[in-house]
Amino acid sequence: MPDKPKYYLTTPIYYTNGLPHIGHTYSTIVCDTIRRYKRMRGYDVVMTTGTDEHGVNVERSAKKAGVPESEFVAKMAAEWRALWDELGVQGDEFIRTTDLKHAHTVQWLFKQFRDNGFVYPGHYTGQYCIYDNAYVDVKPGENCPDCGRPTETVTEANFYFKLSAFQKPLLDWYVKHPDFIQPEARRNEVLSFVEGGLRDLSITRTSVRWGIPVPGEEPHVFYVWFDALTAYLSAVGGPQYEKTGFWPADLHLVGKEIIRFHAVYWPAFLMAAGLPLPKQVWAHGWLLMDSAKMSKSLGNVVRPRPIVHVLGMDALRYYLLRETVFGQDGNFSYDALVQRYNSDLANGLGNLASRTAAMIEKNSGGKIPKPAAFQPQDTALATKAQEAIGEVLEQYDKLGFSLALEEIWSLIAATDKYLTTEHPWSLGESEADQQRRATILWTTAEVLRIATILTHPVLPESTTKVWSLLGQRGQPASVALDGLRWGQLAAGTSLGKSQPLFPRIEKAEAIERMEAMEKEAQNAPSPVTAPAIPSAPAAGSAAAAAASQATPEKIGIEDFAKVEMRVGQIKTAERIVGADKLLKLTVDIGTEIRQICAGIAQFYEPEKLIGRKVAVVVNLAPRKLRGVESNGMIVAASVGPEGRPVLAGFPDEDVEIGARLK
Ligand code: MSP
Repeated sequence: MPDKPKYYLTTPIYYTNGLPHIGHTYSTIVCDTIRRYKRMRGYDVVMTTGTDEHGVNVERSAKKAGVPESEFVAKMAAEWRALWDELGVQGDEFIRTTDLKHAHTVQWLFKQFRDNGFVYPGHYTGQYCIYDNAYVDVKPGENCPDCGRPTETVTEANFYFKLSAFQKPLLDWYVKHPDFIQPEARRNEVLSFVEGGLRDLSITRTSVRWGIPVPGEEPHVFYVWFDALTAYLSAVGGPQYEKTGFWPADLHLVGKEIIRFHAVYWPAFLMAAGLPLPKQVWAHGWLLMDSAKMSKSLGNVVRPRPIVHVLGMDALRYYLLRETVFGQDGNFSYDALVQRYNSDLANGLGNLASRTAAMIEKNSGGKIPKPAAFQPQDTALATKAQEAIGEVLEQYDKLGFSLALEEIWSLIAATDKYLTTEHPWSLGESEADQQRRATILWTTAEVLRIATILTHPVLPESTTKVWSLLGQRGQPASVALDGLRWGQLAAGTSLGKSQPLFPRIEKAEAIERMEAMEKEAQNAPSPVTAPAIPSAPAAGSAAAAAASQATPEKIGIEDFAKVEMRVGQIKTAERIVGADKLLKLTVDIGTEIRQICAGIAQFYEPEKLIGRKVAVVVNLAPRKLRGVESNGMIVAASVGPEGRPVLAGFPDEDVEIGARLK
């Protein structure tokens, strides 16, 4: 078998002085979608993501947190990594710029172009933006022209890279490779920047300590952008890139604000070192919030976790790719997100999957029926599905995600309409009716199979569930898209287990919960001292406090009397969508029924709790947990190193509901 063609793509590597918001998430999810798509097209794909950990900004953030830089970045990098895992991102390489192999690559690359005569010592005096890590052409006291934040005056010795020598080679390259910079608007922007003349670039710093040392030239450390861009090469072999076969990269996917670094500096460094250039740099637009770029400094960020907790990771992935035309800016709104979730996912794909399975279950004993003669309306749907395959692949190839999804959802809508006009449920039991019903149900299931495969790169989690619901073997990820055709669904296949896909959710409730969690996350201390979103307490904060190892200060009885604890009886208990540790309980405390959330879902089955008597702190101020109101607290012991909650109770005594604990 011939070797699979190789495909290498990268996300930007993210700064570790902040935590991811959905702007960063957008870049990463796009890359992950391309990665999954290319695999299904038969490529041997490597996708790199990672963290950009050096520079003065990190140096200062670590100082503020009172920890060494290495500890600071290790914790932040772990946060980024954990989030990508939660979002189902399948990065193959997570490169950190503090990795040793990366430092070697940076030093090696520098040596290559220094040996080639493109480096000279100099002195820089000018303004520097520590947030963008950019030398900016403004006067002292003026703000950064790109991000609007204050600049700092830098005066230091450094080494310069002869960027000016690459004006002509770069312009020639752009002409020879018209697709190198995408989209067109960004290409034009870069072209006019380079045509305007290039100034040599300082690539080392002496007033910063936290960086990769320039060998033999201490105290010089490398300029962060030179360091960061080189990560793309370190991830696939560094100096030994030829051995892995993944360099040059096929695609660097970046946000539009960093196009210049990728489309001018990076190719110039590579040319100077005599290395092959990446094939394409694609600059996408920004996610805007209230018409401004989402960014930590503006305080208008939305974090991905609350969305994932309430609606699931596929909902976020779908929304980001469907709502914004790739390459353009797009507005984020919770309202539009939940709208899309309910209309496209719950009522669209989710509903088609569950009703198809239910009809097959009822009429065909849970097996895909064998179709009889096709009528023109069946063939019309088949043609639409077959055409959709071609159209969707073409759009994915062009990174036209929103159009690809539009096409798939138009197929889903056509199938819903087909079911309405063919109404298989009203057919009778005659031989002809049974055959007609079998044909309609097979046709519907075949559309569902095709839609599932086509949507898989975007919705990996839910399409895997639909795939097994349709009784298909293996994973949708291993289906070769090139071989996908109408008519491959085998009759007689037994359906698999049905799993919840996209439960409908009331818009106001969903938004309230996401916003409440967002607020919790924003108020949470930095992960360098505590987790970003604190995990739900075992059964409330008093239980956690009771588990504390520290010897508490003694309190008087009057202090204890402030805590009003009563016997309560659990009336109802249910799980909360998107909050796997919490149960929502209603508890009779004698004088009223209270709603209380308890962090016991992983250890107690809700149905087994009904009727159980528990100790309740009744005078605790109400608060929201994962956006759900909790009015009181159930008392539990916290057992073992994992803090397993064991409910305090009254097993042997007949205690009255509402009795006070003293
Ligand atoms: N560390 C540099 C990149 C070095 S790559 C060699 C950096 N990091 S960053 O943490 O600021 O991330 C920037 C990237 O995050 C952007 O290029 C973009 O891909 C993404 N986004 C950050 N905010 C964004 C939006 N509001 N909208 C869309 N994407 C944005 O720059």
